[in-house]
Amino acid sequence: MSVIEIALEGCGSPADLLKSKIEERTARIKVIGLGYVGLPLALTVQESGFAVSGLDLNRARVAAINGGAQVISYFEEGRVAEAVASGRFSATDDYASVTAADVILLCVPTPLSDKREPDLTQIIRAAESMSAHLRPGQLIVVESTVWPGATSTLLRPILERSGLRAGEDFFLGFSPEREDPGNQTHSTRTIPKIVGADDPISRDLLETFYSQVVTQTVPVESCAIAEAVKLVENSFRTVNIALVNELKVALDAMGIDVWTVIDAAATKPFGFMPFYPGPGIGGDCIPVSPAYLSWRALDVGSELPIVDLARVRAAAAPSDLAVRIASDLNTKAETAIQGARVLLLGVAYKKDVEDTRESPALYMMQHLEAMGASCDFHDPYFPVLPQTRDHPTLAGRISVHLSAETLAAYDAVVVTTDHTEVDYAAVARHAPMIFDTRNVFDRAGIAIDGDRTFVKI
Ligand SMILES: NC(=O)c1ccc[n+]([C@@H]2O[C@H](COP(=O)([O-])OP(=O)(O)OC[C@H]3O[C@@H](n4cnc5c(N)ncnc54)[C@H](O)[C@@H]3O)[C@@H](O)[C@H]2O)c1
Repeated sequence: MSVIEIALEGCGSPADLLKSKIEERTARIKVIGLGYVGLPLALTVQESGFAVSGLDLNRARVAAINGGAQVISYFEEGRVAEAVASGRFSATDDYASVTAADVILLCVPTPLSDKREPDLTQIIRAAESMSAHLRPGQLIVVESTVWPGATSTLLRPILERSGLRAGEDFFLGFSPEREDPGNQTHSTRTIPKIVGADDPISRDLLETFYSQVVTQTVPVESCAIAEAVKLVENSFRTVNIALVNELKVALDAMGIDVWTVIDAAATKPFGFMPFYPGPGIGGDCIPVSPAYLSWRALDVGSELPIVDLARVRAAAAPSDLAVRIASDLNTKAETAIQGARVLLLGVAYKKDVEDTRESPALYMMQHLEAMGASCDFHDPYFPVLPQTRDHPTLAGRISVHLSAETLAAYDAVVVTTDHTEVDYAAVARHAPMIFDTRNVFDRAGIAIDGDRTFVKI
């Protein structure tokens, strides 16, 4: 055996080398896509002691991150700046930097197409860009939501255009992102992490890496299982949200408050999990995952009619509520929807986040305006409405300032997002007619003045 061979044997296999680098936290981590998922993940990995380099094609975002800007509103103040100041976190838009990384985490968007089918264009592009810069001994983990089988049958062949083989020259796995933006109780670090790979070496490396970063890893035997876990979780959620929205309407007709029923039912220590009604589902995750699962089911000759019905019902919620608002304005306030002035409180798809993707509030605004209403909005996270694919005509509208006078000037005020930073007591005092889609007034114990019309919808 030559000196070189002895030296190489001493170093171990590429997987062993990578494993020791990960365990010693000297492995260099690359996070591709610094959005709502990639940025918190990159910061959590950096805070675990690794050197992290982010990669995003959005140059303005890269510059803002390198300048230590907050970037995501619900981050703790100074989190990005501290990471940058540590010297172990920076961002770039250059794919050539992939070569220097030991572990690469892929967090680019995987939305729906105009036909509401999986649109993997951006992740395919990212894989193509990466494959030109791969080297032996790297671990690649897909975190973006994809249909079961996509990592192994779609992305792997693209990565192997590098001339390297997955499971031999580089290691490949899937670990679904379970980020819940704005959730103050469960963070990236404390949410158990599913880790799946098609070969034991890749799986072991995934487990080794994530166990340095999160409190619990849950290994599964293939990328496809890990991919399916994510879609099943979100389909379960969609079906249950559609169910409670349906229950709300039926119980309301019986004069029973659905929120009170759910809270009482939730005292059962087994067999029940509370889901709450609302104006619909939004974000880049819950409305998207069931469509991915359903699309893949059809692809293999199967069907998911319950999931599909829930998707349809969830998507119809904003228009159902708009019709209910029009009807109640007519019957309870003798005001026609044609020409009515309506203020929507919140355009973000969920509480305390600055994200309007698939926001039910925007769909509701369009439905109300289609019926002749004139709508404004107030949202502390959106001084101006951004451009969105599905609502191009709403872009540029300005958030109205909340005051006694402005609230009193609307025929109806609709709580569409339950942001913390809104003075609901003032709304209760000054708005002549209030529609609450989020149960905020009862939850906060805010009484409504007797001469106001209040409807929980
Ligand atoms: N937002 C959530 O709550 C959530 C939760 C779980 C899973 N997911 C999934 O995580 C993935 C990412 O979602 P997100 O919400 O972070 O998206 P996002 O839109 O917030 O951010 C994605 C980032 O990727 C960048 N990007 C796009 N194409 C790129 C490319 N080819 N190379 C480099 N950067 C690129 C964009 O500029 C953007 O900054 C999606 O698959 C999504 O379904 C999202």
